[in-house]
Amino acid sequence: MTNMTDRKNAAISRGVGMTTQIYADRAENAEIWDKEGNRYIDFAAGIAVVNTGHRHPRVIQAVKDQLDRFTHTCHQVVPYENYVALAERLNAALPGDFPKKTAFYTTGAEAVENAIKIARHYTGRPGVVAFAGGFHGRTFMGMSLTGKVQPYKAGFGPMMNDVWHLPFPNDLHGVSAEDALAALDRLFKADIDPARVAAIIVEPVQGEGGFYEVPAGFMQRLRAVCDQHKILLIADEVQTGFARTGKLFAMEHHGVAADLTTMAKGLGGGLPISAVTGRAEVMDSPNPGGLGGTYAGNPLAVAAAHAVLDVIEDEQLCDRATRLGQRLKQRLAGIASEVPEITDIRGPGFMNAVEFNVAGSDKPNPEMTNRIREEALKRNLILLTCGVYGNVIRFLAPLTIQDEVFDEALDKLEDSIRAARA
Ligand SMILES: Cc1ncc(COP(=O)(O)O)c(C=O)c1O
Repeated sequence: MTNMTDRKNAAISRGVGMTTQIYADRAENAEIWDKEGNRYIDFAAGIAVVNTGHRHPRVIQAVKDQLDRFTHTCHQVVPYENYVALAERLNAALPGDFPKKTAFYTTGAEAVENAIKIARHYTGRPGVVAFAGGFHGRTFMGMSLTGKVQPYKAGFGPMMNDVWHLPFPNDLHGVSAEDALAALDRLFKADIDPARVAAIIVEPVQGEGGFYEVPAGFMQRLRAVCDQHKILLIADEVQTGFARTGKLFAMEHHGVAADLTTMAKGLGGGLPISAVTGRAEVMDSPNPGGLGGTYAGNPLAVAAAHAVLDVIEDEQLCDRATRLGQRLKQRLAGIASEVPEITDIRGPGFMNAVEFNVAGSDKPNPEMTNRIREEALKRNLILLTCGVYGNVIRFLAPLTIQDEVFDEALDKLEDSIRAARA
């Protein structure tokens, strides 16, 4: 019998990269079992999706109840109350003391696409400004906005017109908030009239780009530039949303509101759903039929999302994210003196990362980072890397992880870091 890796290689496009060759059989909270019965601790959570854990009983129950009623009508044809109620909840939950409206989609990239469509329609302007190192999806606008060429853009061009990239403010890599704002100023002088810019899109914490948080005060300054030129500010909260950073939305750390927010991943607790929420007059700009999609706001995913929001509130997952993050960062700080390759330990709430350089230099160390990931996998701990240089390990375990499983994972992590140096 051919093994699964051979079958996968024969059947699946090489372009669909895979981090592990663990074929999932079942999963529960922060644990996954493969077909051979091996148990893994999941510090990836399906890339920040199951913040509420695999198969949270309340999410499962909500989906089962919905399965017994109807699975699909298309909200644009025969609407359902749950869709409206979820929009009401998101409108109330997003930062910003102004009337808001929502539209649902299925993936993060689709939410981003639609946020740009809405922004262009409302402003009547074409330009969009994004950040180097940012990630916004694999569709045409998503990849055009994404600030990383390999593997996301190379060979797929031409990219969309009128997309401009700024350096992301990141003191660790020598780009200050002033540098980024000066680059924006230069962009407006050299390349595009700000009166032609519809939106600036930013991740409050860059996800795929390396878990770098927008520095304190920067978002407010970006907001001021947007206000000055009547540009819309779009917060891409696809990865940061739903309690991951210790708040329901990462923008709550920054004291200003975006005009539009994109969400996905954690919202559905494992079912595919995404959303754009924003200023009511902006969201209402496109004509009826201009927004939507056959599966957009699927009833099963909408039911799951209601349960996710209930669980986050009832189990106080924002506070739990902060506590888990503190424990993880303390543990890493505890070994940092013995591991000179560790150059930074960071991240709000439980959106944490550790970055590795070659010891005593500022040269990124993707080799060691990858070895740590492999050593962890040998110890049945699933880790993800990220960053433009591939030298960052990001931690995305479910926020519902049991204390004993979390402690076990921290032991495995420490052993893996030590083993990768040996
Ligand atoms: C910030 C951000 N935006 C957009 C996306 C794209 O989401 P999806 O993969 O669901 O299309 C991602 C996915 O990782 C993301 O992290």
